[in-house]
Amino acid sequence: MAGTRVLSESAVLNTWIARLLANEGWREPAAFVDRADAMDRLDLHLVGAPYGDARDRAERLIEAMEAIDRDLFDHLRQRIRVGEGRQALSPWLGGAVSPGQHYDALDALLAGVLAIDEPEIDDPSPPPEMVFYQPTPARHIVDGIRRASISAGDIVLDLGSGLGHVPMLVHVLTGARTRGVERHPAYVDSAARAASALALGGVSFVAGDAREARLAGVDVFYLFTPFLGGVLRDVLARIEAEAASRPLRVVVLGPCARTFARMPWLRSDDPDPSATDRIVVFRSSP
Ligand SMILES: C[S@@+](CC[C@H](N)C(=O)[O-])C[C@H]1O[C@@H](n2cnc3c(N)ncnc32)[C@H](O)[C@@H]1O
Repeated sequence: MAGTRVLSESAVLNTWIARLLANEGWREPAAFVDRADAMDRLDLHLVGAPYGDARDRAERLIEAMEAIDRDLFDHLRQRIRVGEGRQALSPWLGGAVSPGQHYDALDALLAGVLAIDEPEIDDPSPPPEMVFYQPTPARHIVDGIRRASISAGDIVLDLGSGLGHVPMLVHVLTGARTRGVERHPAYVDSAARAASALALGGVSFVAGDAREARLAGVDVFYLFTPFLGGVLRDVLARIEAEAASRPLRVVVLGPCARTFARMPWLRSDDPDPSATDRIVVFRSSP
C-alpha cells in the first residue's frame, strides 16, 4: 500500500509539473499569487514523494519561483524607497475582504517586501491583561485604511505595534505619519530597522507601555486587541481625554471591539460595531 501511495505522489507531482510547464504565466513577476499556490501544491506532494526525477524537477521549479519572488520583493522595496509604494502594491490590494484572522497571499507578499526580522522574545507569556504578538492580516489593514479614510494629513498610532507592519503599510499606502508603541524593545528595534531599510521617514516606533504613550496630535488610533480589562480601560480613558480637543477615529480588530462599542462618546456607522472578525471604525462624537 505504502509503495502505491509513493508512486501516486510522484504521478501527481509529474502532473503538476507538466501543467506548470505547459502554461508558464507564473513566470510573470506580478503572478505572485499563482506562484504561491503552485509552490503550496508542489510542497504538499513533495512530502510523500520518493527521491528521483519528479522530486528533483519539482524542487528546481520551486527554486525558480523563489528566485522570481526575491526579484519582485527587491523591485517593490525599491519603489517604496522612492515613494511609489502605493502604486507598486496596488495590483494586490483589491478584492473582497474575507473576515477572520487567517492569513493569505497578501501577507506572504508583504512579509517578503517589508522583510522584518522576528527576534526571540525572553518572556513569551505576557503579563495579565496583555496580549501576545499576533500580526493583523494585511487585508484588514487595507480595509481599515479605506473605511477610516486615512490620508496623508493624518497621524496614526498603533497601540501595541508588535513588529510594526501596520504603521509601515499605512504610511506606504497613504503617506500618513505613523507611530507604533510596543512593550517589547526587541520588536521595536526590528520594526525600526525594517522601516529605515525602506527609507520610511514618516514612521517611528517607541518602546514602552501603551498606558504611558504620547497621544498628543494623533488623529487615528489602531488597536488589534493588544490588551484587555483594566489596561484597556486605562488606555480608553486616555483616548477619551484626547477626544475632548479634536475629532478622533479609533480603528479596532478583535474582541476589544465589544468594549469600544459600549462607549457613549464613540459612534460607528457599522451595522455591527461589536463584530470581532473584521475591522470596526469608531468616530468620537462632536
Ligand atoms: C495582537 S498584537 C498586535 C500587533 C500589531 N498591532 C498588529 O496589529 O499587527 C498585540 C501587541 O501588543 C503588545 N502589547 C501588549 N500589551 C501592551 C502594552 N501595555 N503596551 C504596549 N504594547 C503592548 C504585545 O506585545 C503585542 O505585540
